[in-house]
Amino acid sequence: MRVLVTGAAGFIGAALAERLLARGDSVIGIDNCNDYYDPQLKFDRVNRVERAGGDFLFYRLDFADMGALTDALEAEAFDAIVHLGAQAGVRYSLENPAAYVQSNLVGHANMLELARAREVAHMVYASSSSVYGGNDKLPFSVDDRADHPVSLYAATKRADEMLSESYAHLFRIPQTGLRFFTVYGPWGRPDMAMWIFTQKILAGEPIPVFNKGEMWRDFTYIDDIIAGVVAALDNPPADDGTHKAGGSAKPHAIYNIGNHRSEKLTRLIELIGEACGREVAIDWQPMQKGDVTRTYADIDAIQRNLGYQPSTSIDVGVPRFVEWYRGYHGV
Ligand SMILES: NC(=O)c1ccc[n+]([C@@H]2O[C@H](COP(=O)([O-])OP(=O)(O)OC[C@H]3O[C@@H](n4cnc5c(N)ncnc54)[C@H](O)[C@@H]3O)[C@@H](O)[C@H]2O)c1
Repeated sequence: MRVLVTGAAGFIGAALAERLLARGDSVIGIDNCNDYYDPQLKFDRVNRVERAGGDFLFYRLDFADMGALTDALEAEAFDAIVHLGAQAGVRYSLENPAAYVQSNLVGHANMLELARAREVAHMVYASSSSVYGGNDKLPFSVDDRADHPVSLYAATKRADEMLSESYAHLFRIPQTGLRFFTVYGPWGRPDMAMWIFTQKILAGEPIPVFNKGEMWRDFTYIDDIIAGVVAALDNPPADDGTHKAGGSAKPHAIYNIGNHRSEKLTRLIELIGEACGREVAIDWQPMQKGDVTRTYADIDAIQRNLGYQPSTSIDVGVPRFVEWYRGYHGV
């Protein structure tokens, strides 16, 4: 299979490209390698994928630019799309909303148009646990309403699901939306808590902890996420009128991919401190605008339909991340 992967220089996209190549698929990667965080990490991820071998082609371009996208791909054939590129991050969406509108709304619409024009067999795309907003029914299920986002980031991800639903209806493009729950692991993202905490603990600085530590997250290890994305890619929803996960009667399924464990932030901090072998000083901060206090994934649908089974607890995954972090930075 030849797969177009967007966000291929990103944390999840690079890991997916590597996995697909390892099993013999061909991959066309797209990323604009923007500087939301250090682009060097993105270049290093692409180098890692290239070094791993296999049929990998990389285009540095902005998928919000429809002309650039269609020109670059004109001569390329591909069977499926995994659209992981996006402006990520909840907090930054209060600072730079335009980046989210461009990459997540215009970009998603462009990828749908591409899927339509090229008649792909399946488009898998990234959504987010943040679409559940401040829902207090736990764990979050794909059958729950998700109409009250508390950040623009979440609103764009929910809007992407709606755009996809309309294309599944109008053009019968099989699609799977994946609501990821706090992904972490080697080659992760510098804007996320695990990275920031590790960096500060190793530097002997206090770590900022919001809402007095009364925060819980369903942390999902990168290998588990990739297993879920690949299982989704291999199982496009049928256009048979039956209701899919998430409620659509079109060829459009929506799944949570989480670990099905809601861990208190203070437990995460303990584990990072232990893995770093350092004392941890905490700088208690109030709750941040746009944040939610708790995420917890109901993964029944993806377990049932795709055989997804997360296997990495934070006790195992956090030391792996810290080990990678220290090796990458030589600290
Ligand atoms: N990591 C998580 O915990 C998490 C949780 C929920 C959802 N997600 C979603 O999963 C997807 C992948 O996330 P990630 O953690 O790998 O983030 P990431 O920021 O590491 O990767 C996204 C990549 O997309 C690229 N990109 C952004 N806008 C682009 C554009 N207009 N054109 C081309 N490339 C563009 C970026 O340069 C980046 O390399 C995103 O859609 C994100 O919103 C991630």
